[in-house]
Amino acid sequence: MDDKKIIFSGVQPSGNLTLGNYLGAIKNWVDIQHDYHCIYAMMDLHTITVRQNPADLRRRTLEVLALYLACGIDPKETILFVQSQNPHHAELGWVLDCYTYMGELQRMTQFKDKSARHAENINAGLFTYPVLMAADILLYQADYVPVGKDQMQHIEICRDIAQRFNAIYGDVFKIPEGMLSKSGAKIMSLQEPTKKMSKSDENPKAYISMMDDMNVIAKKIKSAVTDSEGVIEYRENDETKAGINNLLSIMSAVTGKPINTIVSDYSGQGYGTFKSDVAEAVVEMMRPIRSEYDRIIKDKEYLKNICAEGLEKAYAISGRTMRKVHKKIGFIQK
Ligand code: TYM
Repeated sequence: MDDKKIIFSGVQPSGNLTLGNYLGAIKNWVDIQHDYHCIYAMMDLHTITVRQNPADLRRRTLEVLALYLACGIDPKETILFVQSQNPHHAELGWVLDCYTYMGELQRMTQFKDKSARHAENINAGLFTYPVLMAADILLYQADYVPVGKDQMQHIEICRDIAQRFNAIYGDVFKIPEGMLSKSGAKIMSLQEPTKKMSKSDENPKAYISMMDDMNVIAKKIKSAVTDSEGVIEYRENDETKAGINNLLSIMSAVTGKPINTIVSDYSGQGYGTFKSDVAEAVVEMMRPIRSEYDRIIKDKEYLKNICAEGLEKAYAISGRTMRKVHKKIGFIQK
């Protein structure tokens, strides 16, 4: 084994992925894939905390894989698999449930948000979701977890659970760290820029889906909510600037230019020109991804083979951790 560090991350196939998922997570995964041993999954176990249509879930799981590939993830170097196909996730999730406190889970903002949005279905899975996520990461002894800012609280609880477990049983789990992308870590809604861009938003104008047509993408950016001041400036804690801050972050994440360079490039210019340029930059970035995606999604056999190969490798790694956990806890070995 070489000394490359291990990366684990994933996306829930619960809706069409957004520009936020891409700039906050997947783009970063592509950029770092040669420097680490990377493992990425389609997190379907997590999706059923909210009711899913079975046919849609099946279809979306392969669509997410096709998108990972279209974005540039190399399946020869990276392990890619479907979470529910590896039973170790649910198994370690249960074990870790017994090392997690109710009070810790009650503090999770995602739980509070989702239970407010799905008041008719506040199930136990929604509550213990962060524990399953901790299991996902700890099974692979990951060093780093590249995610958007919204997931950092879950990484923190994962670290707490792992440290608590290690304090009882010795060094069982590696303590992972979150890894944020430079400018895309929190892409906001185009319509309510104080809220994060989310694939479950009721208003489709609020988010850019990776499945949107190029002209729809351009239109959504051009009609993004801004302010009436007319000055292109990044002011982090000024809510009236949230729309412009967001467009600047998007432009920076897409072009790789620092925000202050972009600000000086557009000094004295109006929002119209700036929005058109952001729209063009996003469209130019998405166009090749979309055409790759359209090609790959047709080949279901290829996609299923990648999942099968990935699963075999993932299962071997997670099995080692699982055996260690069983032994430490006092379960009789098979
Ligand atoms: P999910 O499916 O909501 O989002 C996938 C990734 O996209 C990031 N993201 C964003 N980044 C920037 N701006 C946004 N507006 C934005 N929206 C989403 C998320 O931070 C995430 O990195 N619980 C996770 C999935 C998961 C997971 C894991 C991730 C399950 N187990 C283990 C890492 C490791 C989730 O719901 O992500």
